Amino acid sequence: MVPQLSSSATGNGGSIGGQGMINMKDCPLAKVFHLLEPGPVVLLTTFHKGRANVMTMTWHMMMEFEPPLIGCLVSGANHSFTALRKTRECVIAIPTVDLIAEVVDIGNCSGKDVDKFEKFGLTSVAAKQVKAPLIAECLFNIECKVVDTGLVNKYNMFILEGVQAWNDPERKERRTFHANGDGTFVVDGRTLDYKMKMVKWKNIV
Ligand SMILES: Cc1cc2nc3c(=O)[nH]c(=O)nc-3n(C[C@H](O)[C@H](O)[C@H](O)COP(=O)(O)O)c2cc1C
Repeated sequence: MVPQLSSSATGNGGSIGGQGMINMKDCPLAKVFHLLEPGPVVLLTTFHKGRANVMTMTWHMMMEFEPPLIGCLVSGANHSFTALRKTRECVIAIPTVDLIAEVVDIGNCSGKDVDKFEKFGLTSVAAKQVKAPLIAECLFNIECKVVDTGLVNKYNMFILEGVQAWNDPERKERRTFHANGDGTFVVDGRTLDYKMKMVKWKNIV
């Protein structure tokens, strides 16, 4: 079922980018690992004390197929850390390469000082199962709940479970991008199809 994702209906930080409706379609949870396995740069949204915030994140990894479990390292110095620890909810939004300049800037300022949704013209859209907002400008959005905080004190590592995922099938630019860690990035290129060799994975991929 595709709910009406009206940004005007969101109470999660408001609709800022001027886009009324978005075209997010339900994305099966069994497919979520395909979205993160290539390790794209992502945006992580939170909603805490009446305000939505967003940070850039590259230190994440898939840990289980379905329900999808995702390990994320969020520095304790980030405003998002407190929000994630307190609310135990977030959205992982996957941007495409046309947003790269904004994504880098989002990762170089803090929600402590600025409303990043407003500053970067992002459209927040009410999610279905969490209070953190979806980002209309992103290709995929994964609603997540924190299911394990056992490694937070030692490594700042949150284990998230994806509880709902969304795909914008009408988005033309679909290339995600990947960080080298030094301010340079690699953009998705050619896809090599080795499915025939994935014997053990036959029922999954
Ligand atoms: C390309 C890029 C990747 C980043 N990856 C991470 C990450 O994986 N974990 C993290 O804690 N911070 C990461 N950061 C830094 C945060 O995005 C940054 O500290 C941000 O300002 C935090 O925002 P906040 O204070 O509003 O939460 C990254 C920044 C950039 C530019």
